Amino acid sequence: MRIRKFALLLFLSISLSFSQAQQPRASEKHPWWQHAVFYEIYPRSFADSNNDGMGDINGITSKLDYLHALGIDAIWITPCFPSPQVDFGYDVSDYRDIAPEYGTLKDFDRLLAEAKKRNIRVLLDLVMNHTSDKHAWFVDSRSSRTAQHRDWYIWRDGRGPDQPPNNWESTFGGSAWQFDPTTNQYYYHFFYREQPDLNWRNPKVEEAMMDVARYWFKRGVAGFRLDAVTTLFEDPKLSDNPVTPGLNKFGDPNMEDKYNNRLPQVHDELRRLRKVADESGDRVLIGETGSDDVAKLSEFYGPNLDELQLPMNFFFTEVNKLSAPEFRKQIAEWDQNPKHGWPVWVLSNHDQVRHYNRYGDGDHNDAIAKLMATMLLTLRGSPIMYYGEEIGMENNDPKSRDQVKDPIGKLGWPKEKGRDGERTPMQWDDNANAGFSKETPWLPVPTSFKTHNVAAEEKDANSVLRFYESLLRLRHSNPALLDGEYIALNENDSNVLAYLRKLPGRAVLVALNMSGEKQSPSFDLSAQGLHAKTAATLLSSSSAQGQQNLSKVTLEPFGVFVGEVGK
Ligand code: NOJ
Repeated sequence: MRIRKFALLLFLSISLSFSQAQQPRASEKHPWWQHAVFYEIYPRSFADSNNDGMGDINGITSKLDYLHALGIDAIWITPCFPSPQVDFGYDVSDYRDIAPEYGTLKDFDRLLAEAKKRNIRVLLDLVMNHTSDKHAWFVDSRSSRTAQHRDWYIWRDGRGPDQPPNNWESTFGGSAWQFDPTTNQYYYHFFYREQPDLNWRNPKVEEAMMDVARYWFKRGVAGFRLDAVTTLFEDPKLSDNPVTPGLNKFGDPNMEDKYNNRLPQVHDELRRLRKVADESGDRVLIGETGSDDVAKLSEFYGPNLDELQLPMNFFFTEVNKLSAPEFRKQIAEWDQNPKHGWPVWVLSNHDQVRHYNRYGDGDHNDAIAKLMATMLLTLRGSPIMYYGEEIGMENNDPKSRDQVKDPIGKLGWPKEKGRDGERTPMQWDDNANAGFSKETPWLPVPTSFKTHNVAAEEKDANSVLRFYESLLRLRHSNPALLDGEYIALNENDSNVLAYLRKLPGRAVLVALNMSGEKQSPSFDLSAQGLHAKTAATLLSSSSAQGQQNLSKVTLEPFGVFVGEVGK
């Protein structure tokens, strides 16, 4: 009992000393986004200020104090523009306004002003590849073959009666071509048919989209997350894509996206957009840049680091089991990316099953959530958190097809259940609907909201939330964690992922037990010029505090140790 009391006091005193430390912001040497922790908000699901069952802009504003206390430096809001909401905002019908169900431009300006007061930057999601079919550009484009905006989209004749121009498939199932009887031609859509692709070979499209970026920069947004940027261009000859064996989850033939994804012209546009961003001050561009390997992904930094500052790496989201060797491999490749760009780390987002479920074993889910948080927030680079991961939110997948809201879930059921499960309302307390709304929310919350919610976790010193808070304070105040080099340790250990974050005068050791058994790794840091025999605990999942002996660092199952190593 006494020991527990002591541990609690120690924990409180560590927390206090972190909270007293000023959170560093942009430094001379580092642009702000290299030290920032980003936090993705799905606006429909974050906080509902008017009790209509859907989140909104004023809801986000009302939670800025929460985000500030957590230690968030920048929020990325997924599309909140007017939209028919077929793809929940990724089908934009007006790029210069706020969706009425989410609020008004005035609300958005207030959000910007309130966020600024708390040192939180706001990023929007720029959907450049396609618009909604209800956007005025497309409405005009489809009206006649000679319409002013006809060439803003990709229109072609079919190969023959009922035959689309080529074999390209939509990534959301079925042909990528939609026949439009008004003008007897097909239009192209990489995503849903309600999301026609813009024709980026038309300079007017480029001009219009760059103006959209300027418009929001002028309003005060700190940057954009660029949706699906790899898909901006298509082969002008419309060559058929190579077909590969088997069928995909929608029952369509598998094929490579050789002629309609990752075409080299994308890079020219990104350089242009980067110029627009740079002209507007210290803005940041984050890319949704799914790629097959690190070399390809790294190209999105640009030949002279003149494209995206933060092209997103999705490799972690594809690791589906807790595996020290697998994460070690991914981290090493990404840390040493060929263009030497600043790394970006993502574990969860609105298109992926939450990592709480991906790595949880059913018995130690909270411990595993803390373990993964420690990895995400102690690596060299900028982490992007997904709302709710800090409270251990889990997926709540639809139980039957008729419950599904995301169209791909309806089309692909049961192999593809859609993305509703990872988009459920934020869990604020244990009241009805997890305190998100007084009205039935647009998606149901999982039953675990009773224990996993902000109010309950704020009161519990051992909660996932309190762990994230400590970790974020540590990350913001420890120079080695912000800027230190990444050095992999004990590379043959199949259970413990360990590394140093090292600056000339100081180093932090991170040891993460990715197994369900106790581990006692030993660290010899002499090759790194460090001769200390102990490390001072900065953060640990066990009650053991103070100095840890480096010849035997005790790690509980799924336990973590972060410690300062002297010379
Ligand atoms: C990627 C977004 O993350 C996803 O949610 C969306 O459906 C597609 N792009 C289409 O915009």
